Amino acid sequence: MMSASNNAKAIMCELTANHPVDGNSFVLHCTWTGHAPKAGQFFMIKPARFSFFLPRPIGVFEFNPVQNMVKFLITRHGKGTEELSQTQAGDKMQLIGPLGNAWADFLPDNGSAALVGGGAGVAPLSALVAEKPDYNFHFYAGFKTGFRDKEQEDVMLGAGKNAKKIVVSAEDGINALNGRIVDFLFEPENYDVVFSCGPFEMLKALMIKCKKRNVPCFVSMESRMACGVGACLGCTIRTVKGNRRCCADGPIFSSEDIIIDE
Ligand code: FES
Repeated sequence: MMSASNNAKAIMCELTANHPVDGNSFVLHCTWTGHAPKAGQFFMIKPARFSFFLPRPIGVFEFNPVQNMVKFLITRHGKGTEELSQTQAGDKMQLIGPLGNAWADFLPDNGSAALVGGGAGVAPLSALVAEKPDYNFHFYAGFKTGFRDKEQEDVMLGAGKNAKKIVVSAEDGINALNGRIVDFLFEPENYDVVFSCGPFEMLKALMIKCKKRNVPCFVSMESRMACGVGACLGCTIRTVKGNRRCCADGPIFSSEDIIIDE
């Protein structure tokens, strides 16, 4: 497994926008002058001016090398992300990154890939569509609630909209297929590889499905992190190969390595 964390830097950046997407999600736009992140990598982020919490690991949603701008799609799910939601344009942000391995490390040169994202987990997959615009990606995006309007859809899907095929589902069925996104990936065996990011329950359902059909599957794992660079062991997960650090050995792992039934 490859890691590109050697290029990581800690830089004090400026937040140029905090764009609310719905009641629970928002997109942070930050300046970034360090090494260009690859899709699947993440940054450790915290506001510089006030912070009672450790930095939070957030996957890259979009990177614009011309504008030196990186964007993060975040859903509130605790005190740290709540604090990030309250930041405003002009705030200084400490970013450490880019960290971890990248989707491209596992992507066949020529082929097709299903990208299956749940909630804010669509973000790192959307970044991959932007990074490889000619690749045959099919983008499966699942949400708890459907999009309110086209603008919200555009923001949440990001570059994922440019995939060769898009399937969107919502558990309330509003403006989308009604149900869980994994159920709409009918034939994973049609793809050379499946990549996924989202809640573990979704990853688990997908890994089981791919295993039954013998399809290579790679998932981006989440874990609480303190250092983000492999030093504290705080993000250790158990795998079939022993303990692995989610930040430095991942966050992307082969589903064959993940212990599903815990
Ligand atoms: S967060 Fe410290 S080792 Fe991963």
